[in-house]
Amino acid sequence: MNLAATEQASQEVHKAKKNWSLNDVPWAQFDNNRVCPELLKVVKAAALVEYNAHDYATYLSNVFHDDPVFLADIQQWAAEEVQHGEALGRWAEMADPTFDFQASFKNFVAGYRIDLNAKESIRGSRSGELISRCIVETGTSSYYTALADAVNEPVLKYICQAIAGDELRHYKLFYSNMKRYLEIEKLSPMERLKIGLGRIKESEDDELAFAYYSANFTGLAQYRAANDNGGVAYDRKQITEEYTVRAYSKYRAHHMDRVVSMVLKACGLDTQGLVAKAAAKLAWFSLASRIRKAQKATGKAADKATSKDPARAA
Ligand SMILES: [Fe+2]
Ligand SMILES: [Fe+2]
Repeated sequence: MNLAATEQASQEVHKAKKNWSLNDVPWAQFDNNRVCPELLKVVKAAALVEYNAHDYATYLSNVFHDDPVFLADIQQWAAEEVQHGEALGRWAEMADPTFDFQASFKNFVAGYRIDLNAKESIRGSRSGELISRCIVETGTSSYYTALADAVNEPVLKYICQAIAGDELRHYKLFYSNMKRYLEIEKLSPMERLKIGLGRIKESEDDELAFAYYSANFTGLAQYRAANDNGGVAYDRKQITEEYTVRAYSKYRAHHMDRVVSMVLKACGLDTQGLVAKAAAKLAWFSLASRIRKAQKATGKAADKATSKDPARAA
């Protein structure tokens, strides 16, 4: 499926949920019997990362300080991201009454902060920053789509569908502004690709792993009570492997096709030709191989995600 077709399909699914609020979520339909404990762990981590969006808004506001229209968009974007965190955090507290979202968030930001004093983009240019933001929104829109497709619990499915719709709009917001800045800064497709690939590589940096750790270890009151001297130590490599098994195993080949199309588009490359098709195959193969490696490292069996025709799970 090409990008236009996947976007159209996604827009149809999410149309009804545009401008949603926490009050629109059908909380009363929560079904504890349909909660997947493995997915719950990655949902908790996602809640913390989303809820931290104000820090990114501060950073982006510094980088685009003299662009008042975009600054207003950044504030709206951050409010939506924070709402994602609130919705996921509330759902996680329903699914696991021992989970304390706010306490976990405090632990997370105590150990992970971005540089709020940066006055210029760490990507070297404003258009580079916006390419990087497109990559992040590509990751989140595909991730929540994959989760929404996989989960059976109705409230989480609703939340993931609503968030996925927002993330796709965010991609478009950053993409349109990137085009505007590219007219001034004129980065080549290769420069754009380098930034895009660099941002993809960063997905195994501290943020997700530490959020996963903060949500699932230091954030559990029960765990703390049983571990007076601070609980388990943070081992990023080990935590990343655990996160990889649980989070990425929900992806299917068509989700990865979409990821590749959106990344290529952000980098100004052809999304339809043979190279794009080969890139999609390579990306799917790489993901499957990455999940298998993580499974081996953790000794944990993921669901059937990496088989050719996987059954729906969770
Ligand atoms: Fe989000
Ligand atoms: Fe987003």
